[in-house]
Parts: sequence; C-alpha cells; structure tokens
Amino acid sequence: MTRLSRRHFQQSLLATAAATILPSATKGQSAPVLHARQGAARLAPSDYPETQIWGYDGSVPGPVLRARQGERFTRLFRNDLPQASSVHWHGIRIENAMDGVVGMTQPAVEPGAEFLYDFALPDAGTYWYHPHNRTYEQMARGLYGALIVEEADGAPVVDLDEVLLIDDWRLTDDAQIAEGFGNMHDWAHGGRIGNWITVNGAGNWARSVPRHARMRLRLVNTANARIFQLEARGLEGWVVALDGMPLDEPQPLRELTLAPAQRADVFVDVTGETGMEALLVSIERDGGYAIAAFSIGEARRPTRLGVPDALPPNPVPALGPLDTAHRAELLMEGGAMGGMRSAMMGGEMKSIRDMAAEGKVWAFNGMADMSDAPLVDAALGETVRIAMTNDTAWPHGMHLHGHHFRQIGSDGTLGPLRDTVLMNRGETVEIAFVADNPGDWLLHCHMLEHAAGGMMTWVRVS
Ligand code: C2O
Ligand code: CU
Repeated sequence: MTRLSRRHFQQSLLATAAATILPSATKGQSAPVLHARQGAARLAPSDYPETQIWGYDGSVPGPVLRARQGERFTRLFRNDLPQASSVHWHGIRIENAMDGVVGMTQPAVEPGAEFLYDFALPDAGTYWYHPHNRTYEQMARGLYGALIVEEADGAPVVDLDEVLLIDDWRLTDDAQIAEGFGNMHDWAHGGRIGNWITVNGAGNWARSVPRHARMRLRLVNTANARIFQLEARGLEGWVVALDGMPLDEPQPLRELTLAPAQRADVFVDVTGETGMEALLVSIERDGGYAIAAFSIGEARRPTRLGVPDALPPNPVPALGPLDTAHRAELLMEGGAMGGMRSAMMGGEMKSIRDMAAEGKVWAFNGMADMSDAPLVDAALGETVRIAMTNDTAWPHGMHLHGHHFRQIGSDGTLGPLRDTVLMNRGETVEIAFVADNPGDWLLHCHMLEHAAGGMMTWVRVS
C-alpha cells in the first residue's frame, strides 16, 4: 500500500532508476485523476448568472465514481484550489491512512500538490466523497460527489439507477455562493442553512420514465446542515439500504428523513398516470417543494413489479455480547439556548464568550477542542457501545468514521447499520459497533459548522 505524494514518488524514482520515469510506470500516475478546481455551474434559473463553484473535476456534483465491491479503488487527487484540501470517502470501511482526515490520517494536500488514494472496497452500496479540511467552507462551495460500489454478486434488477445528491446552497442575489463561512450565529444555531436547494446541481432536476418502471434512487444529503424530510408522489416502493448498508428486509417507503451525510437507497415503482409527473418532495415549514420530477411516459409492462428481495448483506461483523462490551459516554453541550457556561479549551477552562471569540461554541464531555486522549481506546475486535446524550437545543447528526454501528433501542432491539445517526434535542442515543478497523477515527457532528465549532472527538482501535 502506498500513501506517497507524487512529489515523493518522483524523488524516489529519480533516486533509483531513470528508466522507470515513464508516466505509465508508476501506479500513482496511472491512477485516474480526481481534480479539485474552480468552475462554474448553472445552479440557479437561466435568468441568473452561473455560480462560481469549487468542484471535483470542476463540476457540481463531482463525477459519479463507480467501482465494484471487492476491487481496489485508486484516484490521484490533484488540488488546484486556492486552499489546502483532502478527500474523505464517507462511509467506506477503509484503511485508516486513506480516510482523508487532515491532521489525523494525512497531511493537508496543499494547492498544486497531489495525493494518491488507493484502498479496498469491502462493501457495496451508496457512498460519497468530500474534503476533510475546512469542510464547512469547501463543501458549501460545491466539493462533493458520489462513490457507488456495485454489488459483487450481480446488482438487483431495476430499470433505472439514479444517484440524487441533494444539497442546500446559500446564494447571494446574483446567485453566487455567499461568504461568511465562519459566521458564529450559524455555528451556534442550526449551522449554515441555505436558500436554494438543488438535486445533482440543478434547481429543477427532471427526467422522463415509463409508467411501472422500477428505479433505484440513491439519495444522499450533501448539505452542510439542512435535514431533509422527503416524500414521494406518484412513486411507491421500499427503502432497501441506509448509509450504504442493506436492510435485512426492504421497508415500505413513507416519509424519509435524511440528516446531513445520510443516504438511503430506495426501490420505487412509477405508479402515477402516464402524462403526469411523479415527484420527490422536500417538506419544509411552509409546505412541500418538488426537488426532482419524473415525467411519466407509456408503460412498458402491464403492471408494476412485485416486492423486491433484500440486497445481499455486506461483510460487517456481528456485534459481540452487549453486556460485556467496552462502554463510553458522550455528553453533547453548548450552542445557542443551551445551558453551557464554560468548557475546556487548549487545556484551560474558558467561558462560552471566550470560547466563541476563538470559534468554539460546542463541547463534548466538557471539551471544546479535540482531546489528546481518545473517547474510546478499543482493542481490535472489541464490541464498543457509546451512549451519546444531546444536551443542547439543536438536532445533531453524529458520524463515526471507519465503521458502521447499530443503535441500541431502549428495549434492547438493534437498529439498522448506519454511519450517521440523527439525534433530536434532549435525546440519548446509544450505538454499538465492532472495533475491527485499526487506527484513529473521528466521531463528530456532520452539521459541519457544529463539527468545526467543537463537536468532534475520536476513537482509537489498536
Ligand atoms: Cu462525511 Cu468526517 O465526514
Ligand atoms: Cu450538530
């Protein structure tokens, strides 16, 4: 396994044999390039100017990267942004050195520099990628894309497979990305909530589908902080996977909540009438907004298909006994309308005022910056349970790197495998996972302003 930057590559090659300095002779140079750069996108309607964005390969979203379960995946990341960056492969149970966390698993990839990502893909499903450096700014500027891992044993039969990345932008009157990324009001409240919603970068995403067609929709919430409440009209079906991981049984699709970073794979049949539109609707306080429209054409089969089979399970280890599991607790505090007065920061107790002056408004277990010691120091293979209590006035979407977990219900039942869990105010959520992936892994709120503002800790598996 290699994690050398290309600069290092070239140096070591120069030091060995000049004959090998053919571009195709190094793995890094033969890997396809993923290029972060500035670009322009038509996010807003045509009577507005194009929006200047930062995008992978210059577009919003970045390219849909497709690979097959069990394969290795390689990309040479090239950073042509004016800021240092990295790529985090969200939800993939990846080797630690490839996790893309600047300052923890790799150094920042400076402007003009490159980094070779090269890792195995153990699981099929819907994953995504985004930077892990100044994420609250870089994602708000458009840096994200989907990573789709196809099932090794044949994908289930559907007529159409659509990846729908749902985002929320804060745009100015001339459709440019609003500055103010470090706005403490956003950070202490619900995060940077936007004023313009797109699907795959379009304000009016649409396509046509035959009546009775079965679609696999891969829904991803790529917003900084907005929680989407989705409903389907003229489409009926099942949720078959959450956060990439297949459900044991497909669940009938009703309203679907997606916290930032969460995904859902749904199988839906077009049940609306020919000539009508089927819709994906985002439920907001003031009503429902269609965010994706399917114009319904002539049916190609007389009736819709039957109940789908469950997707083949991914090789995630089963939890060990919960009563003897390694336990930890996480108290989440701070933010506007919370009771937190002070927290530890840089080894000193600071008032919330002094903390805010340095950009921290939240704390985990009384600490507003990353602790030197991990929240959990687990032995390889141990089952870990973490009870997280949201003692704030805001919802949070907690994400664990490198592992999927299950929520332990109050009655002891286990929820589906997930990598991000939405926690309402006042709620305690206990998660359990098998610590089978060695390394240091972040556990943080995926509302990106909250993460930057103090909601970040880590777990060590050794
Ligand atoms: Cu989507 Cu720490 O990541
Ligand atoms: Cu949060």
